[in-house]
Amino acid sequence: MLLIQMTGLSGAGKTTLARLVKHELEALGHPVELIDGDEYRRHLCPDLGFSKADRLENIRRLGFVGLTLAKHGVITLLAAINPYDAARQALTAQNPKVKTIYIDCPLAILIERDTKGLYRKALLPEGNPDRVEHFTGISDPYEIPLNPHLTIQTHLENAEKSTKQIVNFILKNIVMD
Ligand code: ADX
Repeated sequence: MLLIQMTGLSGAGKTTLARLVKHELEALGHPVELIDGDEYRRHLCPDLGFSKADRLENIRRLGFVGLTLAKHGVITLLAAINPYDAARQALTAQNPKVKTIYIDCPLAILIERDTKGLYRKALLPEGNPDRVEHFTGISDPYEIPLNPHLTIQTHLENAEKSTKQIVNFILKNIVMD
């Protein structure tokens, strides 16, 4: 079994890389499921917001689904910001086959890219009706993983190279089953 928690700031490349990795692994014949924060918030967690308690609960639910899938032999990629060390460690503590990949990209670059337009909204002055509150990295914490099993720096290498690194990491870890 293998459950990979891909953690990082919004826009760092978690979903993009997870989709590419899924594609590559499926081409090699492996069953893969992607648990994407944005998508699961729509379907499984529409009752949750972005307070610390809600984010912890979000990851608890996603982790439960992920572990269940992984136990049945599906390589499971959990792509969510997952900003709290406690939530990440609670998941890794459940099984040695839960691995953490830190998708790293400096905040300044994410603000510049701003693919979803959310950083602009998070940076609006207080009181502005369009301002997004509690935004990770701006007005809400992101605890950098201290000992991730792998770190990918999306500002330093292209998606193809990052995908290859993650796929190799996964293949190495399923061989050791
Ligand atoms: S987590 O913190 O609970 O792991 P999750 O990955 O599910 O977060 O959801 C993050 C996504 O929600 C972001 O990619 C973004 O599209 C959206 N979002 C909306 N509001 C916020 C916010 N305040 N902070 C972070 N992401 C937000």
